[in-house]
Amino acid sequence: MRKHFLTAALVISALFVFAQGGDRFFPASQLTTVGAYYYPEHWDSSQWERDIKKMADMGFEFTHFAEFAWAQLEPEEGRYDFAWLDKAVALAAKYNLGVVMCTSTATPPVWLTRKHPEILMKNEDGTLYDHGARQHASFSSNYYRSYSLKMVEELARRYGQDDRIIGWQLDNEPRTFHDYGDDAHQRFRVWLEEKYKTVDALNKAWGTSFWSSVYSSFDQINIPRPSQWGTNYHQRLDHNRFADEETSSFLDEQARVIRKYASPAQWITSNYIPMYDVGYIGQSLELDFVSYTRYMVYGGDRGIGRKGYRVGEYTRIGMANDFFRPLKGYYGVMELQPGQVNWGSVNSQPLPGAVRLWLWHVFAGGSKFTCTYRFRAPIYGYEQYHYGIVGPDGVTPTPGGLEFSMFIREIGQLRNNYDPEARNPAAYEKRKTAILFDAGNVMAINMNPQTREWNTEGHFLKYYRALKSFGAPVDFVRDTVRFEQYPVLIVPALQQISLPMVDKLMAYVNGGGNLVMTVRSGHQDPRGHFWEAPFAAPIRELTGSDIEFYDLLPSHSPDSVVYNKRKYGWTSWGEILKPHSGTETWATFSGDFYAGKAAVTYHRLGKGTVTYVGVDSRSGDLEREILLKLFSKVGIPVENYPHGVIVEYRDGFGIALNYADKSFTMELPASARILSGTKEINPGGVLVWKE
Ligand code: GAL
Repeated sequence: MRKHFLTAALVISALFVFAQGGDRFFPASQLTTVGAYYYPEHWDSSQWERDIKKMADMGFEFTHFAEFAWAQLEPEEGRYDFAWLDKAVALAAKYNLGVVMCTSTATPPVWLTRKHPEILMKNEDGTLYDHGARQHASFSSNYYRSYSLKMVEELARRYGQDDRIIGWQLDNEPRTFHDYGDDAHQRFRVWLEEKYKTVDALNKAWGTSFWSSVYSSFDQINIPRPSQWGTNYHQRLDHNRFADEETSSFLDEQARVIRKYASPAQWITSNYIPMYDVGYIGQSLELDFVSYTRYMVYGGDRGIGRKGYRVGEYTRIGMANDFFRPLKGYYGVMELQPGQVNWGSVNSQPLPGAVRLWLWHVFAGGSKFTCTYRFRAPIYGYEQYHYGIVGPDGVTPTPGGLEFSMFIREIGQLRNNYDPEARNPAAYEKRKTAILFDAGNVMAINMNPQTREWNTEGHFLKYYRALKSFGAPVDFVRDTVRFEQYPVLIVPALQQISLPMVDKLMAYVNGGGNLVMTVRSGHQDPRGHFWEAPFAAPIRELTGSDIEFYDLLPSHSPDSVVYNKRKYGWTSWGEILKPHSGTETWATFSGDFYAGKAAVTYHRLGKGTVTYVGVDSRSGDLEREILLKLFSKVGIPVENYPHGVIVEYRDGFGIALNYADKSFTMELPASARILSGTKEINPGGVLVWKE
């Protein structure tokens, strides 16, 4: 009996291990799968079959329903109508399309809003949001939370055991809104009481002796108003954390309700906008994985060269891939721009080929699927002028639609070449680098930047870009991972640090890790207080140097640091370092009263090394040079790709992407077999091969 039990347990755990990394939902041999959003409620039902057949004919393998359809699903309180959705699901199945089912909590119906106006979000100035747009209900409204779960439950009861439904999307692009409604105030107070237990502890953490802000009970505390000058920084930090948790806990509640009914084959996710100063992404632990949405051409980024805006900035996809994947080990992309959008500041046409380039980039990051918003271009409503896979006539594929089809065909070919034994090149894997990421820390810095020259995401990207030019795979990691799996760990601007974290970094370095720490790190404890000690005292043994002082320069008067006889300009943040004995100085400040003092230091510690970069250069070239020196010192060979050329490997396939404005010729080993493209890759082009 016991033997059988053990065998069964072994089989189950082996299956579990086998099913890691998303294979449970997405068979590895399928590589990736492509879908498109469809809104049956927007079109005459006589057109549904034509549209769904067209989607299947264009190669799509799944679709996405009911995202904003609460008004159609529950036309009046407690009366549910699934007949129309049943019909759409049946049509999808007829044409072999899987269905992602969505909870429409981003769009409550008007009868609910009118009967319960307290569900509406209240602005800081007291004005209320209203019906007629979307995302106007507050996740902090007790009634909204409980009532919407009823609708979610009905949906799950209906479709949870339906094998035509492949997975669930919760809400749409959930994010944190700052609601000033009564429930929000009340829930914030409860959250604070749970966190601090006593109001004394809160007073200490918030430093309320400053400016006479002392509280004597939790009831006196309100949600802070950032527009009021000088609002308590610690209170705002806590309020942001609270608001993030309102978002993540609401998604968790939805997921728990769905799980009561859903078959284990159905996955649950949500589609986040990649934002790096919010805590809720990755915080809903009930989700199987996280997916993201991405739009590249919208008037916001210049890209590379005069026409680079038609392709967009490559790090927008690259960083999102490398940020979302490590959260659960795999990820998907729920929305990828199909063509021109309507909401940007300048809604240009993407470069012909750009949509396919982005699809390949998402694939190169390891994505299990890519879906697009949306199949048919809308002909009315807020998103007029937005492209779809087919145009406003409902039948003619757009250029982006054709690029989706082309990519789907190419993936079909790749599937034929899939080899479960194939491995990525050892040199590529050896370069794998981690960048430590802590959303609370980013939020805290952004709230208190000290200088308008500082840009936290921009600081991260300087290191990220350097690593991409080396052809290094990158994981953005949380502090819970085992650092030891990465030969190099970059800890950029970790302003708030705990003492256990210092110990963890110390252990990593002592064990042979190569740590790169940068400006602003270690200044505060996790409450956001400075240490009652010399600046950044807890990390000084780790970094091997003290900070004498820091300086910030105005944009019209940059200075430079000298590294290897070359000068690199800076303005945003400089820490004037005093190396301990045995610590090397790699770069020095020049051009001001502290000329000649150390800006970048390096030392060996235990079996490892620590490089401290005490300056944030303007262009990022200095950061690249420092990493180059470090990689060569520790014996990790790197590539030297030009800016905008990205090379990644997955499942043994090599993928080179050209976001630059010049062609690039890729050198391939003699054994390489080209599957798509040519060695000379034009701007916007892609090369795929197998080694
Ligand atoms: C996304 C959103 C979609 C749609 C799209 C338009 O941010 O999730 O619902 O509005 O933008 O580009």
